[in-house]
Amino acid sequence: MKGIVLAGGAGSRLYPMTQVMTKQLQSVYDKPMIYYPLSILMLGGIKDILLITTPDDQPLFQKLLGDGSKFGIKLSYKIQEKPNGLPEAFVLGEDFIGDDDVCLILGDNLFYGDLNFFRDAIKAQKEKHGGLEGRVFAYYVADPRAYGVVEFDKATKKVKTLEEKPEHPKSNYAVPGLYLFDNTVARRAKNLKPSPRGETEIVDLMLSYHNEDKLGVAMMYRGLAWLDTGTPRSLLDASTFIGAIEERQGLKVACLEEISYRQKFINLDELKRIANALPKCSYRTYLEKIIAEES
Ligand code: DAU
Repeated sequence: MKGIVLAGGAGSRLYPMTQVMTKQLQSVYDKPMIYYPLSILMLGGIKDILLITTPDDQPLFQKLLGDGSKFGIKLSYKIQEKPNGLPEAFVLGEDFIGDDDVCLILGDNLFYGDLNFFRDAIKAQKEKHGGLEGRVFAYYVADPRAYGVVEFDKATKKVKTLEEKPEHPKSNYAVPGLYLFDNTVARRAKNLKPSPRGETEIVDLMLSYHNEDKLGVAMMYRGLAWLDTGTPRSLLDASTFIGAIEERQGLKVACLEEISYRQKFINLDELKRIANALPKCSYRTYLEKIIAEES
């Protein structure tokens, strides 16, 4: 399974904060936003990851993350010239995906909680369980109008409709920015026509699987946190949420070096080397605490 993080876009809702600093590099409590979606892929066991950015921002992401080796992953980069739509990630990533399956996560989507549902979905996707070739998720929200919305048939529980940002949503189930597809996804993405807002739509890509009975939509469980970061308020709320959890437990959310060690992508000696290369800061102190506990 390959991973793609889509981290381009204009970030216009966060202007002027995004005038010189892209949204996905803004801080969420104590680390850049991009750490959070990367952590989800890593916790799913995905090590080969493509990061798609705007031309201007690519050097900044490279400065922050490098080739991924300090996190025990292989990171490659691709530029999206313009925000032509989420499905373009698969067109740009076609060679990278090759014969594999792929998991796309949006660079501004944060999840916190038990990720076994995600690991199960990755396993099922690899096995093409139930003849399904695409898998997405449904998450109950109070107001789904800003999202892709899925409606289920009451009797059969099967997907009835999928709509992007409907004015009058047919259900409260939003589709978060976490998608699993087989390698026909690039071909499907190339065949999509832009919507009236001038972009290709992820909902149309999902429909191309759904219309062939090849799309699975799994519920994300109620206790999982899926946080939005698209507006100043939701960004602040996400920071407050992460801060509250971290301070309560003394454990960091989305500390990529820790995840890499716990996932056995790197060993203790490598973790020590990585920690020693950091300047003196609370992030380093945290890694040193883990090293002491594990030694
Ligand atoms: O967050 C989940 C939602 O993400 C889904 O429920 C929607 O179905 C999906 O369309 C998307 O909605 P958004 O309104 O959040 O899409 P937005 O255009 O803001 O793009 C999401 C992220 O992807 C954002 O961080 C910018 C980035 N992006 C977006 C586009 C259109 C790109 O990097 N390239 C693009 O071409």
